[in-house]
Amino acid sequence: MTAAVEALGYVGIEVSDLAAWKAFASAELGFQWCEREDGSVDLRMDNYAYRIRLHEGPLDDYLYAGWEVADPAALDGLVERLEAAGVEVEAGDDELAADRRVHKLVRFKDPEGNRHEAFYGPLQKTNDPFVSPRGVTFKTGTQGLGHLVFSCGDAQVMTEFFIGLLGFKLSDYINTEVVPGRPLKLTFLRCNGRHHTLALAPVPIKKKIVHLMAETNSIDDVGRALDRCLKAKRHLSFTLGRHSNDEMISFYPLTPSGFDFEYGWGGLEVHDESWHVLTHDTNSAWGHKFQLPPRPPKPE
Ligand SMILES: [Fe+2]
Repeated sequence: MTAAVEALGYVGIEVSDLAAWKAFASAELGFQWCEREDGSVDLRMDNYAYRIRLHEGPLDDYLYAGWEVADPAALDGLVERLEAAGVEVEAGDDELAADRRVHKLVRFKDPEGNRHEAFYGPLQKTNDPFVSPRGVTFKTGTQGLGHLVFSCGDAQVMTEFFIGLLGFKLSDYINTEVVPGRPLKLTFLRCNGRHHTLALAPVPIKKKIVHLMAETNSIDDVGRALDRCLKAKRHLSFTLGRHSNDEMISFYPLTPSGFDFEYGWGGLEVHDESWHVLTHDTNSAWGHKFQLPPRPPKPE
């Protein structure tokens, strides 16, 4: 498909406690913390001007994703296909493009109302290299910033939107029971060599974002981040483990906003020519023990 999305370029999240996020994202996970004049914060993980933007506010949830396309023709093609399918597309003005640090962008919503942006021309900061406060290097490049998992009402409708209009490909399914007695069918979609950039989880949680994943270039970076999270008494929603489908070795610290972050290494790279859609009957080959967060103490 021409005019397909090629990578997850950036994600915007609204967070209520920036100070707690600084300890978590910068000191524990190794993102570079860059404060902006408007009070928001950019998290850097490579040569892009930013990859995750934290907006201060009460929501503690997903705000928008920025999907990268190759060039002006690809963006035009994408807009054409969305509009032909009846999706309302709003052109981003120069001010918004400058704010997002891209050359040009458009905005639209998916069938469940999640906000999305598509863009080309991200600002590269090759003169101002990414410096992790913890010496971490992240795997990004053609695979984009990582992956995003949405909670959704109708996974089939959402899958059709992302495959049919944005050009994603189906990687596989997992039938699992994270909570015993509650069967869960997860759908995994890719838009580049990363096994999945988007996954859809029909789970009845209040937040749109189930988790956001970043991948390091070394298993040691995962181990050291795990040590730092444990030292900080960060709750782990899933312990260290290896996923069945993308083979990622990862752990899931609970963010200060109450959704999970997946921090991993060793994700599978998929080649379209040889890939067959699979169905797994377990989430993980080992580990990833689910742990409920501690309950807040009852008021006296
Ligand atoms: Fe994940």
